[in-house]
Amino acid sequence: MYSNPFNSQLEEAIRKKFAFVDFDPNYGPRLFFDNSGGSLRLSSSVTERYTLDLLPDCPERYHARANDFNQLMDSTREEVLSTVLGAKSGSIITELTASQVFFNVVSVILENCQGTNVVTTNVEHPSAYDSLKMYAEKNDLDFRVAEANKETGFVDPESVAELVDDGTIVVSVISASNISGNIMDIKTIGKECKKKNSNIFFISDAVQHLPHGLVDVEDMDLDFLNFAPYKFFASRGLGIGYASERLSQLTHHKLNGKDSSVWELGSPAPAVFKSFLEVIDYVCWIGEHFINSRNRRELYIEGITKIAEKERYLLNLLLEGDAEIEGLRSMAGAKVFVDYADLTRRDLIVAMEIEGLDHTKAVARYQEKGVTVYERVNTSIYSKRIVESLGLTGAIRVSPLHVHTKDDIHQFLLITKDLIHQVQK
Ligand SMILES: Cc1ncc(COP(=O)(O)O)c(C=O)c1O
Repeated sequence: MYSNPFNSQLEEAIRKKFAFVDFDPNYGPRLFFDNSGGSLRLSSSVTERYTLDLLPDCPERYHARANDFNQLMDSTREEVLSTVLGAKSGSIITELTASQVFFNVVSVILENCQGTNVVTTNVEHPSAYDSLKMYAEKNDLDFRVAEANKETGFVDPESVAELVDDGTIVVSVISASNISGNIMDIKTIGKECKKKNSNIFFISDAVQHLPHGLVDVEDMDLDFLNFAPYKFFASRGLGIGYASERLSQLTHHKLNGKDSSVWELGSPAPAVFKSFLEVIDYVCWIGEHFINSRNRRELYIEGITKIAEKERYLLNLLLEGDAEIEGLRSMAGAKVFVDYADLTRRDLIVAMEIEGLDHTKAVARYQEKGVTVYERVNTSIYSKRIVESLGLTGAIRVSPLHVHTKDDIHQFLLITKDLIHQVQK
């Protein structure tokens, strides 16, 4: 039912495009299964960035190199909007991190708009939750929080919509959970909320989901989303947001002479734009293996859809195993949390535990055995509210990438089994 869309040749070619897939230059062989914390790097994204960064030219000039830089930045902005997000209009916002982009936009909406309340959910990342809470309090607005379904991990559309009324200014819902991997039904949530109040700003944190599935801001009717290239095969130092034309009409930081569609301040780095353009090219390159098209959006849709299919295949293998080894669902001593059956509604993340072993200790034991995973526990400000919302005190988060293979998953399952035996001894 869940098959690998990549043949061995393509799988090998993909693997070659990424750096340090199976070893750390100082610590030796390892499986990197913490891609939700920061993904494996597409090598060209880093090397191209480095090469361009060696050139000193100011983009706001008109000699050949400056023109190249301008063209590069304009085409990257355009590609992010139309190729990656399917936007027909709107602008992009750039900052150093995705969190900064979110805080920026929430402050702009809530400092400009009249109303009585804001709506979000209890499984948001702190950058979305805390920014909304901070500006709601500052502007005397009611802060309303919809609860995720503890059994499934999803935020049900009705539970968000029932909090919306005539006074709602903004509704903010995460696209996919970075702890359980649940992909929220953003389109239906937006639709249901807009039936109650068509004036809301509908916004979403897509940092977890964008590298793993298709997003279309027109179809989802979003005014804003943000994402982070370092979780999308590129490197740290950039957060990107999409702003609808309506959002850009609100007063935001900008120079007097610039159009309201321009959110960028100062001189952004061409090299950083290039690093993300490499990622877009990579996803389209995967698409080219499956369809014959010159349309970049079509190629991107095909590429990201195949990435999602490969990741679903790996997720199924992790959970169900195969003829060679049992999966986590049936492995005595392992427990999978919020284990929703339909994998088409999940990103490649498993929240799990090894029975009888504290999560932090388990992560250290995995590391000793050459596996990098991470614990998301209720002693961390980043995960306390989220894990508790799912009825947990914490979990080991296992997040491989489409770059990984059946052998990698087998290796992880064998190591897990071995770890369980040691604990049970
Ligand atoms: C879902 C989600 N949103 C937002 C962020 C924040 O991203 P950044 O570190 O770029 O601010 C993260 C980072 O872990 C995340 O997982």
